[in-house]
Amino acid sequence: MKRLKRSPEWFDDDVFWRETFPFIFAEKRLALADEIVGKALTLTGVKGKAALDLCCGPGRFSIALAERGFSVTGVDRTKYLLDKARARARTAQVNVEWIQKDMRDFVRREAYDFILSMFSSFGYFDVREEDAVVLRNILESLRPGGAFLIDFFGKETLAKVFQNALADTLPDGTTLLQQPKVVDDWSRIVTDWTVIRKGRARKFTFQLNLYSGQELRQTMENTGFTDVKLYGNVDGQPYGVDATRLIAVGRKPNQSVSRD
Ligand SMILES: C[S@@+](CC[C@H](N)C(=O)[O-])C[C@H]1O[C@@H](n2cnc3c(N)ncnc32)[C@H](O)[C@@H]1O
Repeated sequence: MKRLKRSPEWFDDDVFWRETFPFIFAEKRLALADEIVGKALTLTGVKGKAALDLCCGPGRFSIALAERGFSVTGVDRTKYLLDKARARARTAQVNVEWIQKDMRDFVRREAYDFILSMFSSFGYFDVREEDAVVLRNILESLRPGGAFLIDFFGKETLAKVFQNALADTLPDGTTLLQQPKVVDDWSRIVTDWTVIRKGRARKFTFQLNLYSGQELRQTMENTGFTDVKLYGNVDGQPYGVDATRLIAVGRKPNQSVSRD
C-alpha cells in the first residue's frame, strides 16, 4: 500500500543540520568513534559482520565499523550529512552503502547482525507510536540472534543535569544557545537552538520524546526484543544515578516466538 505523503517535520530542515554541524559533529567528537565502536562491540558480543548504522549522519560509526571489516549500510534522511559521510569514507578508503531514507521507512528483512542507533537519534516523532515503528523495522532487519544497541540521553539523567539555558562558542566566534523546555508531563523535550554567526541569529527547534530506562526497556520488549540490558555509558556501567547516557542492548530471538 502506498504511504501518504508526510507533512514536513522539524528534522526535515536541512539548514538546521548544516548550521549546527560544527557543534553536533565537532572533530574531537568524531575522532572518538573507533573507541566507542570497540566498546559497543564488546557490550553486544556481536559475531557476524553485517551492520546497519541507522541515522548515520556524517558516518563516523559506519566508517569505524567498515574499518573493522564490517559490511555496513548507513541510513540517514539528510543529504547534507550523507554527503559528508561519503567524503569521509573516501578519505578513509572504505566502502559503505549510503542510503537516504527516513528511519520509519527503512526495512531490510533479516539482513544485519548488528544495528546501531547512536547519539540521540531516536524519539523524533510527534506520535510516539512512530518510535515503535522504527523499533519494529530494526527488529525485522536483524538476523535471528542479532543485536541492537541504542544510545541516547535518558529522562533520569536529564532531570539531574537540566539547565534552562546552555551556550557554546566556537573558536571563530559562532555561538549556539540552547533553551530547553520539558513539556507534556515529562514526555517530550523541546529545545530552541539559536545559532549566532557574524551578528546574524538563526533559530531552530529540536524536539525529542523522553524515555526513562524502564520505558525504553518496556517499549523494546513490547516490540519483541529479548535479553534487553540497560547501561549508563558505553563502558557498560549500570544505568544508575551516575549514568551519562542511556544505552540499551536488545536481541532478536533466535526462533520466532508464537503469540498464540
Ligand atoms: C544527533 S544526529 C546523530 C548522527 C550519528 N548517529 C552520529 O552519532 O554521529 C541525528 C541524525 O538523525 C538523522 N535523522 C533525523 N531524523 C531522521 C529520520 N526521520 N530518518 C532518518 N534519519 C533521521 C539526522 O539527519 C542526523 O544525522
